[in-house]
Amino acid sequence: MTKHFIVIGNPIAHSKSPEIHTQFAAQAGLEISYQRQYCPDDAASFTAVIEAFFQGGGVGANVTVPFKQVAYECCAARGGLSEHAKVAGAVNTLLLNNALLKNGTPIAEAIYGDNTDGQGLVNHMTSLDWPLKGARVAIIGAGGAARGVILPLIEAGISELTLANRTLNKATNLVNELSAASETIAKQQINICSTETLSGEFDIIINATSIGLSGDTLPLSDELHSHYAYDMMYGRELPFLQHFAKRGAQTSDGYGMLIGQAALSFKRWTGHAIDVVKVTDSL
Ligand code: ATR
Repeated sequence: MTKHFIVIGNPIAHSKSPEIHTQFAAQAGLEISYQRQYCPDDAASFTAVIEAFFQGGGVGANVTVPFKQVAYECCAARGGLSEHAKVAGAVNTLLLNNALLKNGTPIAEAIYGDNTDGQGLVNHMTSLDWPLKGARVAIIGAGGAARGVILPLIEAGISELTLANRTLNKATNLVNELSAASETIAKQQINICSTETLSGEFDIIINATSIGLSGDTLPLSDELHSHYAYDMMYGRELPFLQHFAKRGAQTSDGYGMLIGQAALSFKRWTGHAIDVVKVTDSL
């Protein structure tokens, strides 16, 4: 029987998730339908759409901009949240909490949220053979994107973390909030600085700002060096990557992270592990 999935966002027409998941299903030998779902940008509409989807027999949904925080609130009040979703304060993967359903909880109250974005980044770096264990890592940006990757990076065994941001107190607040939310993060020493004062040598530097969308460039110090540079954005020329490529770094945009987070959602929903390298090559 066909299993039904959606990705909910606004705008949504550009989403590549249906193609990605259709390839996963072909690889796993499953029959699925995965559709783009538009939703008006308000919490009540979002809740109505996901309730109708799951009550209608839907198996799983991905959540994209601007609904990841709304989805978090929704699941916190219903079927619960994974550790990664709790710490990220955002949900990108919805499913039903089977333990609750077995106890007779109505479907609408059993909607559960996970967040696979950060682990998708870690899995992508691992598939590129980037050495995360023991790595000195710098992240630029202190918004939602940075928030989602910090716990998975620490879990992957990095040794040092520096968080840089244009607005310093946003970085300080983020570290304080994350340390309160997770013992694993509280145990990790995290250095904080402004973007232009970020300097020294790192193994991996990650751009987690939204600057790639604006056409601006980050004020990067001449004294800043990294062996590997990753931009969480994808699909255009990224000045951040060009900057580090010129200085000899290996670089990657965030397309593989998109595939990586999707593969983890797919596994969560279907139990099938996907060979992401095969899929990345063919998309
Ligand atoms: P996201 O969810 O994509 O992380 P966000 O929460 O709005 O989006 O965060 C955007 C991040 O990009 C922030 O760290 C922001 O810096 P500030 O906290 O100082 O606003 C950073 N950012 C966006 N535009 C930038 C720019 N032109 N220069 C430097 N940093 C920028």
